[in-house]
Amino acid sequence: MTDQPIAARKDDRLGGGRFEREPDKAFDAFQRSFSFDRRLLPYEFAVDRAWAKALQKVGILTEIEVRDTLIALQSISDELNADPTFLEGSTAEDAHHLVDSALVHELGALGWKLHTGRSRNELVATDFRLFIMDAAASLQRQLGEFLIAILEQAKTNFGVPMAGMTHMQHAQPILLSHFLLAHAEAFSRDVTRLQHAADSADACPMGSGALAGNSFGVDRNAIARDLGFSRITANSLDAVSDRDFALDYLFALTGIATHLSRLAEEFVIFASQEFGYVILPDEYSTGSSLMPQKKNPDAWELIRGKTGRITGALLGLLTTLKGLPTGYQRDLQEDKEGLFAAHDQVAAMLAIATGAVTATKFNADRLRAAASNPVLFATDAADYLVHKGLPFRQAHDLIGEVLREAERQGKPWSQLSLEDLKKISPLFEQDFLAAPSVETSIATKAVPGGTAPEQVRSAIAELQKRVTNLHTDLKTKLNTKLNPKTGEKP
Ligand code: ARG
Repeated sequence: MTDQPIAARKDDRLGGGRFEREPDKAFDAFQRSFSFDRRLLPYEFAVDRAWAKALQKVGILTEIEVRDTLIALQSISDELNADPTFLEGSTAEDAHHLVDSALVHELGALGWKLHTGRSRNELVATDFRLFIMDAAASLQRQLGEFLIAILEQAKTNFGVPMAGMTHMQHAQPILLSHFLLAHAEAFSRDVTRLQHAADSADACPMGSGALAGNSFGVDRNAIARDLGFSRITANSLDAVSDRDFALDYLFALTGIATHLSRLAEEFVIFASQEFGYVILPDEYSTGSSLMPQKKNPDAWELIRGKTGRITGALLGLLTTLKGLPTGYQRDLQEDKEGLFAAHDQVAAMLAIATGAVTATKFNADRLRAAASNPVLFATDAADYLVHKGLPFRQAHDLIGEVLREAERQGKPWSQLSLEDLKKISPLFEQDFLAAPSVETSIATKAVPGGTAPEQVRSAIAELQKRVTNLHTDLKTKLNTKLNPKTGEKP
């Protein structure tokens, strides 16, 4: 035993017994992952506790040894939490090495016993899976908050029409709330994708050893249960090679970022002078160092811009994994930095987007004015002729003629005379000219999923229910999860 502090101990290379010479300094720095995988320490402690108990069950550790090991783990964890500067100065290769050598420092030879029958290959996969399960739940909670922000705007602005667009061209009138709920649907799917990623991470590799399994007969199911996993991995070799759960998580992050980026693009456009649909909140805008009048949508632009690195992290890991042989390869250490960074960015993007959506004011007059241009009712006009018995293709052509005539006369088609219209088709009656309005156009889209007010109202209620259920689910999940700071069950 030594009384040197953890961080000051001479580098003791893991598995160093077979080496005669010290590692090259530059290579040593190159291969260390501690600077970023220290984030896994709370999970490492949790796995160590579960492993100590598993070793007791198979007679490798006595009850007293387990007790001493658990006390030592707790005091190391407390020491590190109390003074994280230990971590800064550490020469540990990675998080596993740090705890391993700290245990030996605390317990002497007993500290070496904990690593019986296990490998860092399974430890890193287990820690990383636990991290992703927690991370997915925390982003689900954030998505829930974001959905509430969208819902609130959909409720506040209920009844405001807007010009729905395809190809960025005015198409048909819809409710602004319908537009907002379209975004909410995409983010709801992201909640499901995060769940898929969490489920794919939810299998415990411990007992897989370096690749072949465990020869001491540890109870893998008990370890998994202890750590809050709902199942064990099926094949020891696959368990140390598999990073599909990380790809699933990165894909879910890319989905969120892509959806945020689309929303951001629309807010940037809507805030332009040409559109003037939204008034940017001061709290989420910046000025220009040169032009005094400027209020720029930087929050949305940065959200749009940061999406690149999230997608990049997914492509990075896919590229790292391509062509890797089965089994643990050191390349796999490259799985963490990009994923941690992508998670942090998405968390920040969601927080800012939630604030910015909440603080945005919609300009109902501008939205209504754009939606009231009669060209947006041209499809409804064609539908009028269909109701008179005309095949749609012919109705489409006739309304085309009406629009051409209106253009020739330099007025909106709704101001053509009945006489002019009758020249195009005798089917036109006075009620044709009375009919078109934003409200009637919107009201006719009354199928489920359509933009008619009663449909949008029930969509709001449905989404509200979904968000409430999500929050209840997350609460029960939290009760069974580890506290990410301490690695303890709450
Ligand atoms: N630090 C490594 C990683 O992040 C885990 C250690 C396994 N290393 C090894 N040489 N077997 O993947």
